[in-house]
Amino acid sequence: MQLFDVYPLQDITIDRARGAWVWDAEGRKYLDMYGGHAVISIGHTHPHYVERVTAQLKKIGFYSNSVKMPIQQELAEKLGQVSGKPDYQLFLCNSGAEANENAFKLASFATGRKKIVAFKGAFHGRTSLAVSATDNPKIIAPVNQTDHVIFLPFNDPVALERCFSEQGNEIAAVITEGIQGVGGIYVAGDAFLQKIRGLCDAHGSLFIADSVQCGYGRSGRFFAHDFAGVQADIYSVAKGMGNGFPVAGILIAPHLKPWHGMLGTTFGGNPLACAAALAVLEVIENEDLMTNAANIGQYLADELRQLPGIREVRGRGLMIGIDLPDELASLRKELLIKERVFTGEAKPNVIRLLPSLGITRGEADLFLTKFRELLIAR
Ligand SMILES: Cc1ncc(COP(=O)(O)O)c(C=O)c1O
Repeated sequence: MQLFDVYPLQDITIDRARGAWVWDAEGRKYLDMYGGHAVISIGHTHPHYVERVTAQLKKIGFYSNSVKMPIQQELAEKLGQVSGKPDYQLFLCNSGAEANENAFKLASFATGRKKIVAFKGAFHGRTSLAVSATDNPKIIAPVNQTDHVIFLPFNDPVALERCFSEQGNEIAAVITEGIQGVGGIYVAGDAFLQKIRGLCDAHGSLFIADSVQCGYGRSGRFFAHDFAGVQADIYSVAKGMGNGFPVAGILIAPHLKPWHGMLGTTFGGNPLACAAALAVLEVIENEDLMTNAANIGQYLADELRQLPGIREVRGRGLMIGIDLPDELASLRKELLIKERVFTGEAKPNVIRLLPSLGITRGEADLFLTKFRELLIAR
């Protein structure tokens, strides 16, 4: 059987990994400033993570959501504490798209409404309503086309106000990333997020904070939306939650009430996934990784802003976009091939830095040295 060929692949096989480093099958070492697409939150093969997941696997890996699983409650409590949302409720699932899909469904159940407001440049996943709320017509199949989603310009409070004044009583939810990731690392302004909160309150709509990429401490706070001092009704989380183990969830405000059968999934919240997620939170807390993300991220951004030829450096914490002019478009490829540094990209010419939250000052300096050398060699 052949693999269904949907991914444009680098010609590299990664064989093993540790912290912010990966090695290919030939034993060559690469600095991972990409974190496997913002997934590696606490560092590859972190010893505490490996130990906790292994111990859980030896006990029991899976049972379905038909029995009590105290480890789910343990995870909910730890997540409530570390995220600063102790009074929220947790629904566990398996991926970012599934988390957003459940967030939409919950918002629609709670309000009895059908319309979702999303923003230009947004990415919310590839399942049915999540992809409809994603600003990329190429990946929206005909069956996913719907008039339930309204796209508005990002960071434009006036357009949002107009939309609410015209159809506020039909809007179930507004969804936004705290920092647009796939869209090119654009930070949602504090005033914009506050406007969303105010309009949702005034019209009985729900605020969904997609924190799949920008959440879990990456911005230097647990949720990037926290910078605006607003509370969303639902936060979706995934990527960094399991440091590579597929686990996701939605954090649900106390005013939203569940009923049996309302949401569900076979794999979501299984003991192995919970053990992985608990290990991640324990390391984030014990190693103070949010502070590290804030400090190293600020340092990287400050240093990058001093380099010549770069159009703009955007982001918060360890979610950084380096916007390059066309003549530097090949820099990301060169970083990988010549300097052995993995980074992410966003169209057209943005290098995305999404490293482990545990990256050290020395590793950040190494990246800066390699990046500078490539720039100067031109
Ligand atoms: C902001 C955001 N939301 C949702 C998703 C979808 O997550 P997943 O690929 O786990 O379904 C992504 C993935 O990149 C994302 O960046």
